[in-house]
Amino acid sequence: MGTTQSSLNEENLQSTKIKNLNEIRFHVQDQEHVVKTEDIDPNTSLNFYLRNHLHLTGTKVMCREGGCGSCVVVLQNKDPVTQKKIFLAVNSCLVPILSCNGWKIYTVEGIGDPLVGYHPVQKVLANFNGTQCGFCSPGMVMNMYALYESGKLTMQDVENSFGGNICRCTGYRPILTAFKSLCKDANPELLGQYPDIEDLVVCQREKCEWECVEQSDKSDKVPTYTLFEDTSKWIKVHTLKDLLKTMQSYTKLTYRLVAGNTAQGVYQAYANPVDLYIDVTSIPELTLYEFKGDSLVLGANITLSNTIEVFQNIAKTYPNFSYLNQMADHIDLIANVPVRNRATLAGNLMIKHDHNEFPSDVFLLLETVGALLTVVSVDGTQTIQRPSDFIKNEMKLKILLKVILPEYSNLVKLVSYKIMPRAQNVHAIVNAGFLFQFHPSYVLDKATIVYGNINPAFIHASSTETILQGANLFDNHTLQTVYANLSHELEADVRPPDPSPLCRQQLAISLFYKAVLFLAPDHLLSPRHLSGGPVLQRPISKGTQDYESNKSLYPLTKPIPKLEALAQTSGQAEYIEDMPDLHNQLHGALVLAHAPPNSKIIRIDTKKALEMEGIVAFFSKADIPGDNNFTPLGLSYINAKEEIFCSGRVMYYEQPIGILVGYREDVVQYAINLIELIYDESNVEPMLSTRQILKSGRTDRVIHVRTVQPKRKGNDVQHVLKGTFDIYQQYHFHMELQCCNVIPTEDGLNVYPSSQWMDLTQVAIANMLKIPNNKINVTIRRCGGAFGAKITRNGLVACAAALASWKLRKPVKLSLPLKTNMAAIGKRFPLSTDYEVGVNNSGIIQYLNCRHYTDVGAQRNEDISNEVVNFFSASYVPDTFTIDVNKTITDTPTNTFARAPGTLEGLAAIESIIEHIAISLNVDPIELRLRNLRTDTPLAKYVNELRTWANVDTRKQEITDFNKENRWKKKGIAAVPMAYELAIGGPYAAMVSIFHGDGSVQISHGGVEIGQGINTKVTQVCAYKLGIPMEKVSVVPSSSFVAANSTQTGSSITSEAVCYGTIQACDQLLARIKPVRDRLGNPTWEQLIQKCFEEFIDLTARGQYSPNEPNVQTYQVYGVCAAEVLLDVLTGQYLVTRVDLIEDTGESMSPEIDIGQVEGAFVMGMGYYTTEQIVYNYEGKLLTNNTWTYHPPGARDIPINFNVKFPKNNPNPVGVLKSKATGEPAVCLAVAVPLAIRHAVASARADAGTSDLWYPIDGPTTVENVFLNCLNDHTHYTL
Ligand SMILES: Cc1cc2nc3c(=O)[nH]c(=O)nc-3n(C[C@H](O)[C@H](O)[C@H](O)COP(=O)(O)OP(=O)(O)OC[C@H]3O[C@@H](n4cnc5c(N)ncnc54)[C@H](O)[C@@H]3O)c2cc1C
Ligand code: FES
Ligand code: FES
Repeated sequence: MGTTQSSLNEENLQSTKIKNLNEIRFHVQDQEHVVKTEDIDPNTSLNFYLRNHLHLTGTKVMCREGGCGSCVVVLQNKDPVTQKKIFLAVNSCLVPILSCNGWKIYTVEGIGDPLVGYHPVQKVLANFNGTQCGFCSPGMVMNMYALYESGKLTMQDVENSFGGNICRCTGYRPILTAFKSLCKDANPELLGQYPDIEDLVVCQREKCEWECVEQSDKSDKVPTYTLFEDTSKWIKVHTLKDLLKTMQSYTKLTYRLVAGNTAQGVYQAYANPVDLYIDVTSIPELTLYEFKGDSLVLGANITLSNTIEVFQNIAKTYPNFSYLNQMADHIDLIANVPVRNRATLAGNLMIKHDHNEFPSDVFLLLETVGALLTVVSVDGTQTIQRPSDFIKNEMKLKILLKVILPEYSNLVKLVSYKIMPRAQNVHAIVNAGFLFQFHPSYVLDKATIVYGNINPAFIHASSTETILQGANLFDNHTLQTVYANLSHELEADVRPPDPSPLCRQQLAISLFYKAVLFLAPDHLLSPRHLSGGPVLQRPISKGTQDYESNKSLYPLTKPIPKLEALAQTSGQAEYIEDMPDLHNQLHGALVLAHAPPNSKIIRIDTKKALEMEGIVAFFSKADIPGDNNFTPLGLSYINAKEEIFCSGRVMYYEQPIGILVGYREDVVQYAINLIELIYDESNVEPMLSTRQILKSGRTDRVIHVRTVQPKRKGNDVQHVLKGTFDIYQQYHFHMELQCCNVIPTEDGLNVYPSSQWMDLTQVAIANMLKIPNNKINVTIRRCGGAFGAKITRNGLVACAAALASWKLRKPVKLSLPLKTNMAAIGKRFPLSTDYEVGVNNSGIIQYLNCRHYTDVGAQRNEDISNEVVNFFSASYVPDTFTIDVNKTITDTPTNTFARAPGTLEGLAAIESIIEHIAISLNVDPIELRLRNLRTDTPLAKYVNELRTWANVDTRKQEITDFNKENRWKKKGIAAVPMAYELAIGGPYAAMVSIFHGDGSVQISHGGVEIGQGINTKVTQVCAYKLGIPMEKVSVVPSSSFVAANSTQTGSSITSEAVCYGTIQACDQLLARIKPVRDRLGNPTWEQLIQKCFEEFIDLTARGQYSPNEPNVQTYQVYGVCAAEVLLDVLTGQYLVTRVDLIEDTGESMSPEIDIGQVEGAFVMGMGYYTTEQIVYNYEGKLLTNNTWTYHPPGARDIPINFNVKFPKNNPNPVGVLKSKATGEPAVCLAVAVPLAIRHAVASARADAGTSDLWYPIDGPTTVENVFLNCLNDHTHYTL
């Protein structure tokens, strides 16, 4: 393909006067802000400015890469293409503040608050229980606000638009339900639930209408201007000629064209400082489109959102461009809505240009359809290039100007695929584009075959394209030739953490076959193959929540939203990082050892970092006056000391070695890269997993814990099965990262950690500083998610911040960036199990010998051995089980509690063995379970209830029929029971104070509000006990003074425990005020309390929960769950089509809160078993350390039909107020999902011709895992 050249008009290149500005102006809400360039750095993000300069901390920040959505704000603007007024959700973490000149921005505080009234979006999210920890809520609200204000919203729009907003707590169902209630096509029952819409005061924007936008707009319309005279420059250009001129003037400078500025979310290097930034977002030539001749010509910097809209509109009107529909659908799978609102075609192509390995979907599509790119040099020379040539050409001082798309007759068919590890917001495992140009028959004039993510150099399957020229596509011989050729042509490289070369190569071949099935006329296809062509289509999700509440006990058992919900949805709720900076505020950054495990530290060279302006000090273990340990012995669960900072031998890659502090967080984060670690590398191979340890015979790394002997052995052994079971780490993915704020007092420290355990924080800091415990005051308002990660691990962060604060006597905030958080902090304990099981012909277990290994990481601290054993034995008759438990020590960060620690693992191991037996013996898995279930539990009753309620047996028959009729789509179903013994511990305190002034009540307790609704339950209980309205009760932050010595918030028990303490306190208060009440007859509450006050009655009381207290007993939580999946055998992708879950919650104190716990836990478990994979390199460096590589479930990964039921009339005789705990158990039930997938895969394996239908659980059942285990063989890929 040749290139054509032309020259821009000479006049275009004439100089334009560039105006120097020293400020920019923009509106936030209705207020204009003027930013002086002398006050900021060009790399400052809008997010940083909002949070740190304007103190609008409702907008959160987490990943800083466009991958979590917590930072979303709304931009009100004119669409450059349509000129319509638009509301755009954008990621404030990726928007440079200097781009904002003339913008109008809304943050969550600006659309509604307690004074002006809440916006409908804020209100529905709160009322439908769409918040738990609330950290994601402002981002959710703003993403929805943009959709809502854009009007004509459908439920499908809502379902499709939250791929970039991660919520780890709720499981998304209530968020989607809330937002769908605002849609024009909302189900009537949803609309009926809409809260008092009439009296909603919708934001102040009505007042200003568009005036301020128009005004702001004008301020950006000054001709090309430059900011920063002397240092790095920011130049905003409005015309192409100015752009070229500008680039001509500064040829020696390093520069970056700033379009959407989102590329830094993919490759961090795009955030590196340069000399010159040129903002190209307002250049019409780059952002508009036109038809030229037969071609559609797009400005290269048109955004992806606009591209989708333009493509959809053109495809509707022009038949020869109908292929653009497919392109629009594919682009809809790129990133997420806020990213696409800013990301541009040119920016995407430039990433591909700079990093050929990048699996760009834009590049793939454009190359497939034969698009051409116009590139212009600064001298005005234009060249037209194919995308595949463009990525090889030098682009320095050149601009990507246009994208030219050809028209095609209806004989040309485009099919494209993006196979992803989860439904949305993730890059492709493999992407593929096929353009088939047919003769008026099945014979091809030409075929274009493009694949992404095969290897950096791979673009076209060129020799296969040649084979297909003139061939009949719908012919089995042609197809086999193609597959054979592709097998040679597709040389996938090894690129962890991306899936294996085998997977990517085979998937690519399979996609070709899928395209053929999709295009081939039905009559040419075997009926069993027909369903193989279409991709999985996900309908709008739905769910039911079935529970009862007892009105006679209200407010106890009343279904209510979280008390803090409106504060969370309006951005008023404060998290640690939102606390205002104080005079002399310092910020810290952890310095990590970028050295393989077992390396010996020789020296830490901090000279360069300390020389940087604004850097104050560096502290390491040498500066610790007391104990270099953040896990103080003597506290429950703590078995070993753990270093705050490495003391010499590096225990794991990226172990913290010190803290650097300075005045600005961004400067400190930059400066840590200047610290050099000088170390001796060890020649001992790092041990990164249990299997590696066992294989290498490193018995010194295996610690035997105990062996449980069987009570008997059955004598009817007809079948013996051996197998393995392995599950690995899970990153907790709490949205608020590990952080702590420490403020020195005159004699100690006030500490505000994002911790689940105040006592540990207090003792650890005191021991480290060698000062008394009573000098450390710990206060916690809430955590933005925790899931076990903040039980002990936050101790490290709190100690580091406290050390710096103590040494400098200045306030220090320390918040770990996502990558540091993921690399330095341990995760869920992996479990490996070897087993041998003997069963009779009915599948009844005669003996089971198993050996468990829990991988504790670098230190054997928290212990889950007991839980593993107990839950392994909890559901099925365990008399014949021999259970051996061991711990293995690996060179990874010390692992830690994660939601249902040990319990999830133990339960999953036995369920996997049961399924192995069922599939191997071809016995119905539910029947097999019933045969082996313990008889001393009501589990059989639960299983049978589920069968009826969820219609399981009929569906199973339908699935069997479906699987017979379909070769390339399969369904699967699995049901698992759960007996969850609640661990009780303590102490947990609660203090209740009644104020005489108005009779209002305040509670402070020893638990931590981590999203589980503890404060709501405590309030309900207190109001119930005292017989007063809930409005009279408030809960204030937890404090180490009020609730001294309280233990960790964990094990699901804390809500109940602090309710117990509250009841005790209320009982004391009621006893004290009773005589006065009796005397007064029938006083109002206020009169009664005032009188008690006058009689010097103590109106404060404290209660405590612990195993020593009367009526504190353990109990079982029972549950059962059925999951159904639909699998695409040719891609490995699947939909979780239905989940029915029954969990025994006793008489729920707060049913909506408990529904939230159950749904959220289940989805977190689903993520663990499906999309969340942790990958290390051979040295132990974590490769999955950001949102680009680690994938918790998104809104379109959840069950499509999710039904939850709490058994009715089911009081817990030994629970607090007859309730049961809900925080963790449901996470265990999620194992039904990988088992359902295995059921579906078993059918594919049978069709593939193997008799070995079972394959072991070995980590998450990812798309790669499923695809490879379907044993696809391309000789079977026939019509
Ligand atoms: C969370 C997330 C998920 C993503 N997922 C996907 C995905 O699944 N598939 C996929 O393909 N992509 C994905 N992307 C990439 C995304 O498409 C790109 O980040 C985006 O298109 C870049 O465009 P931009 O305008 O933001 O570029 P910018 O960040 O503004 O610029 C990037 C580079 O391009 C240069 N540049 C910009 N315009 C021009 C021009 N006209 N001429 C010459 N150079 C120019 C700049 O100098 C800079 O070097 C994802 C991104 C994020 C953040
Ligand atoms: S912080 Fe901006 S998307 Fe995560
Ligand atoms: S409520 Fe969504 S992350 Fe916690």
